[in-house]
Amino acid sequence: MNLADLNKIAVAMTAAGKGILAADESTGTIKKRFDAINTENTEDNRRDYREMMFRTTEAMKNYVSGVILYDETIWQKAKDGTPLVKLIEQAGSIPGIKVDEGTKPLPNCPGELITVGLDKLADRLPKYYEAGARFAKWRAVIDIGAGIPSHTAIMTNAHALARYAALCQQAQIVPIVEPEVLMDGAHDIDRCYEVTQWVLKETFQQLYFQRVELEGIVLKPNMAVPGKKSAKKASVEEVAEKTVRLLKDCVPGAVPGIAFLSGGQSDEEATAHLDAMNKIGNLPWNLTFSYGRALQAAPQKAWSGKAANVAAAQAAFTHRAKMNSLAALGKWAA
Ligand code: 13P
Repeated sequence: MNLADLNKIAVAMTAAGKGILAADESTGTIKKRFDAINTENTEDNRRDYREMMFRTTEAMKNYVSGVILYDETIWQKAKDGTPLVKLIEQAGSIPGIKVDEGTKPLPNCPGELITVGLDKLADRLPKYYEAGARFAKWRAVIDIGAGIPSHTAIMTNAHALARYAALCQQAQIVPIVEPEVLMDGAHDIDRCYEVTQWVLKETFQQLYFQRVELEGIVLKPNMAVPGKKSAKKASVEEVAEKTVRLLKDCVPGAVPGIAFLSGGQSDEEATAHLDAMNKIGNLPWNLTFSYGRALQAAPQKAWSGKAANVAAAQAAFTHRAKMNSLAALGKWAA
């Protein structure tokens, strides 16, 4: 492992004013997004949609440090035969790859999930590197509900995240470590804080036990937010203040950058929260975005599967990317 090179990539992924486009929806997940815009989930449509984003030069050059791809996309070619990975590289952005294989029920833990995909990962990673991937992503999901999460779910998911991270670094690929505490429940912001603290403490302990070099990772956490079904809402300032406090408590300063997931927040909320955190400032790591839905909802709607809408979709994508870039600098204004 060359740690200096891993660190360079991790620093570039979270460079000031730049963030990550999470375009790694599985074929099943993108179907849900396409259903909402009455677009058939074909291989060509998935290609056309992603090509539209990767050819949005202004957004890609100025605001997008890296793109997380799904396995299908990393091998796909644009309509004119250029590999999609080349389009990303030509725009000065870094290609990355989702390497987990989704979740399965965790035995003996009703309602809880474990992320799978470690078998053969050591063999898959060099192929992705050869295809151009310089970073990877693995997402663990922790749900909050009656009697959950269990320590079993938190510990086994943290263990798998650290196994994945160690394998990535061995293959000279920067691991995005993503332990996502879901915001689907009825819990309040303080319960989210408490569970996320537990999850992050356990994750960094496992990273340490498995000798993962923190200078060569990017953390992708959730923010401290109330569950969607909670009656108790939280202000932008409260989310920012609690999330920053939480991260300071749990994330060593050796980590170069933190790139949040949006997790079901609206576009504007995700931007406002990131901005408010960066306005607090004086942090040991860069705080930026690694958004899927909060970057893509607007361009998806504008595109709606029609070639005639490409320019409008690209304008919508550029706008969201620019707003999040400003938020990553603490310079966004509502
Ligand atoms: P969202 O921003 O839509 O949560 O997606 C980010 C991601 O990559 C989830 O794994």
